[in-house]
Order: sequence, then C-alpha cells, then structure tokens
Amino acid sequence: MLIHSNVCLALLLLLAILLFHATCLNTNQAHPIIANGREALEIIIGGGGGSYGSPLASPPSYYPFESKRIEIVYPVIQKFKQKITSDPYNITNTWVGPDICNNYKGFFCDTLLGDYNSVALAGVTFNGFNFDGPDLSLAGFIDELPDIIVFHANSNNFKGPFPSNISKIKYLYELDLSNNKYTCEFPHEILGSQLTFLDLRYNTFSGAVPPQVFTLDVDVLFINNNNFMQKLPDNLGSTPALYVTLANNRFTGPIPTSIGRAGKTLIEIILLNNGLSGCLPCEIGLLEKATVFDASRNYLTGRIPLSFTCLGMIEILDLADNQLYGHVPELVCELPNLVTLSLSYNYFTGIGPKCLELVEKNVLHLRMNCIPGLPDQRTRAQCRAFFSTAKGCPRSNWIPCSSGGVIRRNSLESSLDTNGISAVSVKLKSRAYAALNRRL
Ligand SMILES: *[C@@H]1O[C@H](CO)[C@@H](O)[C@H](O)[C@H]1NC(C)=O
Ligand SMILES: *[C@@H]1O[C@H](CO)[C@@H](O)[C@H](O)[C@H]1NC(C)=O
Repeated sequence: MLIHSNVCLALLLLLAILLFHATCLNTNQAHPIIANGREALEIIIGGGGGSYGSPLASPPSYYPFESKRIEIVYPVIQKFKQKITSDPYNITNTWVGPDICNNYKGFFCDTLLGDYNSVALAGVTFNGFNFDGPDLSLAGFIDELPDIIVFHANSNNFKGPFPSNISKIKYLYELDLSNNKYTCEFPHEILGSQLTFLDLRYNTFSGAVPPQVFTLDVDVLFINNNNFMQKLPDNLGSTPALYVTLANNRFTGPIPTSIGRAGKTLIEIILLNNGLSGCLPCEIGLLEKATVFDASRNYLTGRIPLSFTCLGMIEILDLADNQLYGHVPELVCELPNLVTLSLSYNYFTGIGPKCLELVEKNVLHLRMNCIPGLPDQRTRAQCRAFFSTAKGCPRSNWIPCSSGGVIRRNSLESSLDTNGISAVSVKLKSRAYAALNRRL
C-alpha cells in the first residue's frame, strides 16, 4: 500500500514536471550573456535636436507615413492589433491609418538621431489598458519595433514567450511588464540587455532568479509579488540598482554579505515578507546611501550589528516581525535621519534612554518584544521559550564608518525631531514602496 502510493506520487511528480516543461519552456535554449555597457543614447526625448545631422530631403507629398521608420512599424502594430481580443477602453479604435505618431493611443514617436535622422516609434505606453487575448505576447511585437526606448505595459494580460532577440533592441532601456499574466521562469532573454529599468512585479514568475539579474546595469529592479523561490543569490550586492524591491516572494537563506558592495549606490531596498533567515550581516552597515531598508516579516535572527550606526541616511529601517534579540543599540537610535525604526514582533530585551526617547516620539516601534516595563510585550512564557533554544549569531562590534551616528549627527546639526516628516510621507516618495502597489 505504501509502495503503491509512493509510485503514484512519483508518477504525479513526473507528470507535473512534464507539464511544467511543456507549458513553461520555450524553444530557445541559448542564453548568451552579452557584455553590459550603456551606450550613449542617440535619441533625444522630447524633440529638439535641430542642430544635429543634415535635414532629410522631404518625402514626396503622396507618401503617407511620417518616415521610413514609421512605415516599418505600421504592419507590426496592425498584426499585433489582431491579437487583442479584449480592449475595454477601445484603445485600438485609434489604431487606424498611417498617422501613428499623432493618432494612435499608446504609442509615441520621437526623433531618432544617428543612424536614420528621422522620426521613429520611440515608445509603447499601454499602462492600464487591460488588453487581453489568447496569444497576447511580446514575441512578434516588441522585437519588431526596432527603435523603441520604453515599453510600459502595467496592468495588461501579456503572457507567453519573450522574443529570443529582445536584448538586441538597440535602445530599449525601460521594460515594465508589471501586473500581467506571466508564469514560469524568469525571462532569461532579457539578461543580455542594456535595460536601466526592469519591472516584472505582480506576475506569477516562479523558480529562481538568475544571478545575472544582479549584474544588469539597471537603476530600478522591481520583481516583488511573484513566486520566486530560492536562496538569495550570493551576488545580490553586485547590483548597481538604486531601487530594489524583492518583497512578497519566497526567497530564503541569509541576506548575502555581498550587500555591502552596493554601498555607494543602493538607496532603497525592500526584502519584506520572504523566508529569509540567518543573522543580519554587518555589511548592511556599508549602505551609506540607503534611505530605506525593509527586511520585515522574515525569519532573521541575532542582534542588530553595531555597524548599523553607519546608516547615516536611513529614514525607514524596518526589521519588524523577525526573531531578532538583544539590546537595541543606543547608537542606532541616534541615527540622524530616522523617521521610523520598526522592531515590533521580535525578541529584544532592552533599550537605553535614547531609544526610549524614540519610543515616546513614536519613531521606534517595539510592540511584542521582551522588554520589561514597555507596554504590549510578549508574555514571559513566550520569551522564555524563545531564549531556551540556542541562537548562533556572533556578536560584532565592527563599525565601518569613521564617525558613528552621534558625531555625524552633531556635525550635521540635525535633531531627532521629526517635524513634518512622517513614515507616511517617506513611503509616499519612496519608489521601492510604490512598487508594492499593483497598479501604477
Ligand atoms: C467602447 O465601444 C463600445 C462599442 O462601440 C461601447 O459600447 C463602449 O461603451 C466603449 N467603451 C468605452 C470605455 O469607451
Ligand atoms: C528578432 O527576430 C525577428 C524574427 O526573426 C525579426 O523579425 C526581428 O527583426 C528581430 N529583432 C531584432 C531587434 O533583432
């Protein structure tokens, strides 16, 4: 009986794997990684450029298109239009005739300098159009729009394969496919691209994120709210991105120590609600540019490293709902730009006077910890149960910045007074937190 059910299980598993392969794998296996390097953009956004190049000879008057580059994309758009079976805002009604640049909703043109010196289709902006169709995919569309710089399609129903040559689109810098219907693996096809903005949030991508994602030359990397499931790649800190949101996936393992390598660039990172575990690496203290660090709702443990004293720009530090313990370092409570230090739902056992001041100002949140004398703490039994199991995080007194928080604070003549700045206002201007919204 037992053997029988194991065989069944194995068969089921096999079937599941076969199904996954049948539905998820597309035909191109090669994932060449092309050397990065942001080419000088030869396109002027917003017109201008009158002094560049020589003017084109004006086309014959009967020529219906604005340029040869527009003529090239006309049949591509018409072909794509056939794939749209649901268009609730009647957008495609405007996609008639040759005047793409002035009449077609969702497309914009600009002057392409360099190779052609003419008007070209520079962008696709389908945000919120909610297009649908059984074959609504990028393949056969984006790869045949050779001059586009941006492709923004938040809240549609794109799915299916990525074109194998998407990274050959010469000027494609921004790709936003957030809140679409993608399933299966991370699209390897984009790994050779020169994208500066990559937004794949709110799909159901699953499996692993290839480490090459963290060597893409992006400023923005939003892959939150998918089903990515893997140990965070060791090279996380290789990313040059300023804004990173990995929230609401199933990443596991520790925060890689490589995170410190992003110290000169990273401004906001959100790791919220994953399955991260292990100790907080001291290298987080190297994030001297960071204004937002949110690793709440994970299984992180250990003490707050003293290196956090070096987070001189930090405004929101959210470590709530983990398994952190120890004293909250006084120097962290003296960080000059703190607006919110959220440590609720952990196992901290003590705070000093500076931290107490922040509790009173509602900057430091410490609900549900093990701190005697503070309201809304865990029960003694809960605290005792937690501390009865061995915790293996080393203590580190390493402080990588020359001046700790106190000195820095005095020299900036900043105060702990958060007049006019609230967590809400910080979150409103935060690009990484904005990515937690489904629609843009
Ligand atoms: C789109 O067109 C259909 C039929 O022409 C019309 O009934 C509907 O109200 C239009 N929808 C919008 C959002 O304009
Ligand atoms: C990608 O491949 C398609 C199909 O072979 C081709 O039509 C298109 O021009 C290619 N696009 C780029 C950017 O190389």
